[in-house]
Amino acid sequence: MTHFALKNGVLHAEAVALPTIAEQFGTPAYVYSRAALSESLKEFHDVLGAHPAGAGALVCYAVKANSNLAILNLFARLGAGFDIVSGGELQRVLAAGADPQKVVFSGVGKTAAEMKLALEVGIFCFNIESIPEIERLNEVAGQLGKTAPVSLRVNPNVDPKTHPYISTGLKEAKFGVAYDDALALYRRAAALPNIAVAGIDCHIGSQLLDPSPFAEALDRILALIDQLAAEGIQVHHIDLGGGLGIKYRADQVQPTVASYLNPLLDKLHGRGLKVVLEPGRRLVGNAGLLLTRVEFLKEGEAKNFAIIDAAMNDLMRPALYEAWHDIDPVVPRAGATRDYDVVGPVCETGDFLGQARPLNLQAGDLLAVMSAGAYGMAMASNYNTRPRAVEVMVDGDQVHVIRQRETVEQLYAGESVLPQ
Ligand code: LLP
Repeated sequence: MTHFALKNGVLHAEAVALPTIAEQFGTPAYVYSRAALSESLKEFHDVLGAHPAGAGALVCYAVKANSNLAILNLFARLGAGFDIVSGGELQRVLAAGADPQKVVFSGVGKTAAEMKLALEVGIFCFNIESIPEIERLNEVAGQLGKTAPVSLRVNPNVDPKTHPYISTGLKEAKFGVAYDDALALYRRAAALPNIAVAGIDCHIGSQLLDPSPFAEALDRILALIDQLAAEGIQVHHIDLGGGLGIKYRADQVQPTVASYLNPLLDKLHGRGLKVVLEPGRRLVGNAGLLLTRVEFLKEGEAKNFAIIDAAMNDLMRPALYEAWHDIDPVVPRAGATRDYDVVGPVCETGDFLGQARPLNLQAGDLLAVMSAGAYGMAMASNYNTRPRAVEVMVDGDQVHVIRQRETVEQLYAGESVLPQ
């Protein structure tokens, strides 16, 4: 169910009216729903718990989607693990109370220092993406007198049919090791003294609304597991990455977690493999919105603009991927609409959050940019010396600030002028 809904003509987050949040904390503001976050994780846990192949499965939330400590802490308390891609994310999840034994470390460019930190705290698995990477890991583990558990991220070469910038499993991608090289690489990994082969991993892309490519990828990975077993190389877990999509338009239908996972679990049944998943967007995307206020209405010669106080620096997705986010009035007005380009104050033509949106607006109105919980704040920047937005979490009728609005002083605190 959605936890952002109109009540008496006013958009609410759970039991809290959004204008109250705007008044108390200002705009732009990221607003999350605790219930929505909890329910999206529960959907995964329920499906896994109901299938025999889901026993012992681990849902590792992809921290990059939204790394706020409160969100990480909430997921940790609900039993999730974490998929991290940097030492910074590792420190974050530890600060949020994560169990290191539930952490997988992805990414193509792990530094020796990041590997050392992860080995010291004892993470569950390193997802390895190249030969030089595994050699570096072997060396770092040797120096520490440890054995590093690894999966190789195999590129199954399937087309996820999503935006090219977020497709990762094609052979042209920088990610993973080529399917045809995987066997040789596993042999090499198995021979390295400080490496323990633990699992196998793949991630084919993001925002997949058709689950069939996942099954195609799994078939290819299972064939590889059989080849490995024939050579005496056993993997204990299979990490299927993230990528399940969400609806970005109110009238869209999103695949259920069951329709995505059950066909995969059926294929895995009886193999005795622990299942690891790395969902990001699906857990947080529709649990957050960006609340913003209309500063001015500008009637242009060819277009009408609604100039708002949020911008591309707050939510990069429309500028970067031409991504669609519904933009809903917080207090909808009756009457005729006009088409507005909803734009920010940043000095770039690409600074829009939506184009040609039929809205009935007045200056000062509040708008909610929907489905902004994933890759929203996490990708925000300070371009144009714009302090990043406040983040609040609604829990029933309570509102908690989970990240304060930045101040301009904080933005230049680390800078200094020349002595003369
Ligand atoms: N695992 C790995 C190895 C990944 O690279 C990613 C996302 C995930 C898991 C989580 O994928 P998800 O479940 O969120 O689809 N900034 C883009 C999305 C980039 C995704 C990068 N990798 C966007 O705003 O659409």
